[in-house]
Amino acid sequence: MTSRSVVGAISAEEADEVVFEILGGETGRADPYPLYRRLREGRPVHSSPSTGVWFVSDYGVAKQVLHDPRFGRGEGSMMGALADAEVAERSGEMRRSSRNMLFADPPDHTRLRGLVSRAFTPRRVEELRPRLVDLVDPLLDVVAGDQEVDLLDAVAFRFPVAVIGELVGVPEADRDQFRTLVRASTAMIEASPSAEALAEAQRSMGEMSDYFHDLVARRRREPSGDLLSAMIAIEDADGDRLTEDELVSTAILLFGAGFETTTNLIGNGTLCLLRHPDQMARLRDDPSLLLSAVEEMLRFESPVQLDARSALVDAEVAGRRVEAGTSVVTFLGAANRDPQVFAEPDVFDVARSPNSPLSFGWGIHHCLGAHLARLEGEVVFGRMLDRFARIDLAEEPVWRQSITLRGLEGLRVSAVIAP
Ligand code: HEM
Repeated sequence: MTSRSVVGAISAEEADEVVFEILGGETGRADPYPLYRRLREGRPVHSSPSTGVWFVSDYGVAKQVLHDPRFGRGEGSMMGALADAEVAERSGEMRRSSRNMLFADPPDHTRLRGLVSRAFTPRRVEELRPRLVDLVDPLLDVVAGDQEVDLLDAVAFRFPVAVIGELVGVPEADRDQFRTLVRASTAMIEASPSAEALAEAQRSMGEMSDYFHDLVARRRREPSGDLLSAMIAIEDADGDRLTEDELVSTAILLFGAGFETTTNLIGNGTLCLLRHPDQMARLRDDPSLLLSAVEEMLRFESPVQLDARSALVDAEVAGRRVEAGTSVVTFLGAANRDPQVFAEPDVFDVARSPNSPLSFGWGIHHCLGAHLARLEGEVVFGRMLDRFARIDLAEEPVWRQSITLRGLEGLRVSAVIAP
């Protein structure tokens, strides 16, 4: 990898314009990649004069920031850094008070993650494969009718909800409500949420918290084979265990982190295949490419587009001094198209190798559910291509307004069943 100058060929003011277009503009929402390229080529490490936030679009530098223990959650308002001061403060407060591993620094992070990570090892996840096939097949039946169907609703939402619901132990009848609740709660990880969206997020978090307190009480009385019961029973070698609040916030996190993102992997990934029929045909001919195809979908249309940190102490990014308390935003979607790491980065290639996108983040917060998400992708795309001789786009899809999470409003398709 050759190093690139981080000082920049465009001015800080021009770079700010590009950043604002990425974060809030119509062009950014429809297709952020030309904007990412401008920023990466023009000012790959950009200290924004108007916001005080640093924006990183270079793969190597993004990886360093995410790996560097001097950057963490801290007290900084982090992801709400671009909202107005009051909203940013409230959004930071919500994340701090949610007391889960995603928003914690070591040593709390190490402890909280350590107590549940055993459930997500590659071996434990692989054991779920047959059950995942059982869960996806009935959902695909709906797509196989004569009618056009919104695949996002019929499969991309329902499948990950069923998987995480079953894993955590949320009864089937209760799962649908989480779609609105989780979606509303994601305002707290957006860069510039409105005051209303944040208030809605707070209400949703309260509702999910009530729900899980109740479910924890039920599982204490009557344990079952699910993860929630296991988390209640977990006690590590030092006698440490999760408190009631930690149990509830971990359950909410698993539910929250476990499906909106995977919904978008399935939606965005299907769209990648529909837009690149040659690659869809290649995958159909050679299912051994499934895992690498999923990785390429993650790279090409990353369900999480940005990952923010706060400097916990005075530090450096790419040799430049960053003061303690400064927010640093890494654009994962830009890093994933960095030509210094990915040959022909704007080409969607289901057989790309090597391929190490930053879509699951990096460092201590690297996605706990990455193996599960990859398996879900492998199962859903494998079954889809097995069962349908054709899948066609029925309507031009529209991207959602959110920036941290990139996904579609809907994905109307028609499918022809394989003989
Ligand atoms: C963390 C992406 C699926 C659970 C993360 C992070 C990213 C990410 C980027 C790091 C956040 C940060 O550094 O601030 C994704 C994507 C997914 C996915 C793209 C699907 C395609 C899942 C699933 C689960 C899950 C299925 C759970 C079962 C978590 C948890 C964390 C996390 C618990 C926090 C880890 C920590 O703070 O140590 N995910 N995720 N994710 N993810 Fe995922």
